[in-house]
Amino acid sequence: MDKKIKRIGVLTSGGDAPGMNAAVRAVVRTAMGQGIECIGIRRGWNGLVFSDFFPLDSNAVSHILAAGGTILYTARSQEFLSPEGRDKAAATCRMLGIDAVVAIGGDGTFRGALELSRLGVDVVGIPATIDNDVGCTNYTIGFDTACNTAVECIDKLRDTMQSHERCSVVEVMGRHAGYLALYVGLSVGATAVLIPERELDFDRDVIERIRQSRLMGNTHFMIVVAEGVGSAYEIGKRIHDEIGLDPRVTVLGHIQRGGSPTARDREMAARMGYAAVMALARGEGNCVVCTHDGALVTKPIEQALQETKHLQMERYAVLEAMHAKNT
Ligand code: F6P
Repeated sequence: MDKKIKRIGVLTSGGDAPGMNAAVRAVVRTAMGQGIECIGIRRGWNGLVFSDFFPLDSNAVSHILAAGGTILYTARSQEFLSPEGRDKAAATCRMLGIDAVVAIGGDGTFRGALELSRLGVDVVGIPATIDNDVGCTNYTIGFDTACNTAVECIDKLRDTMQSHERCSVVEVMGRHAGYLALYVGLSVGATAVLIPERELDFDRDVIERIRQSRLMGNTHFMIVVAEGVGSAYEIGKRIHDEIGLDPRVTVLGHIQRGGSPTARDREMAARMGYAAVMALARGEGNCVVCTHDGALVTKPIEQALQETKHLQMERYAVLEAMHAKNT
């Protein structure tokens, strides 16, 4: 990319994540400082397909740093999946004089970004999803806030579970990934954590864990389940049928996606937004901003989409050590 960037579009796409607004603010403020104009694109890729946009300047992003959700709205665009939809999106960019798009979201967003880049529009991706399941980056904006929200809820549940000496089954988000469940489970001292990355052996992973915990003298049990494992209600019923406990089931649901971003998410959003615009300003397009060994780097989108990361299963050993019996 050798032309000077004069105008960029910014959008948020896929499931929202706390810190998306902070990232939008960082993109706009950094761009302004570089003499680059910004256009806000509404509802993810749909905003390009249906020409739904508005000008963004420094004032327009005042007071959004601490706000959850996204002022740009978000969507999972069906229209953008078709070649016709993508052609319309590229035409909107040409019509608006947009040299590049900063797309904030997860893997699905970056797949869209790659397609748009093939139509001649430069794109930079910023990873944001509470699932933290983007292969090319250690961290995604929103994960820390979602963890803290879930921990706060589960701490409250524990109070009442402890009083009544009950078993609690709590479902956290994560259709395909167990990052949230495992980090949260460790943070609340869960009796057991069930994640999609580990094949469920009910006796080993649930019944035996409760038995061990009982041997340690515990009278309440906290089972954290990632939604991708299956219904928390079914797990609760199975616990009842197999060992006679009467679990209470709580599905935390979309509450985990809301709320004011934590300091970690705000700081990460500021740095990633800055890095995205600076990459464009130095002529580097079609990349994703990633965290790698504590530093921020950019990776070509195509490469970024091929990368996978593995949940650090040693966290399981830590979890189990917290409930080991005395030897
Ligand atoms: O944001 C990711 C995620 O929270 C997944 O964990 C969950 O399965 C999914 O989004 C649900 O999103 P929605 O209800 O918006 O389709």
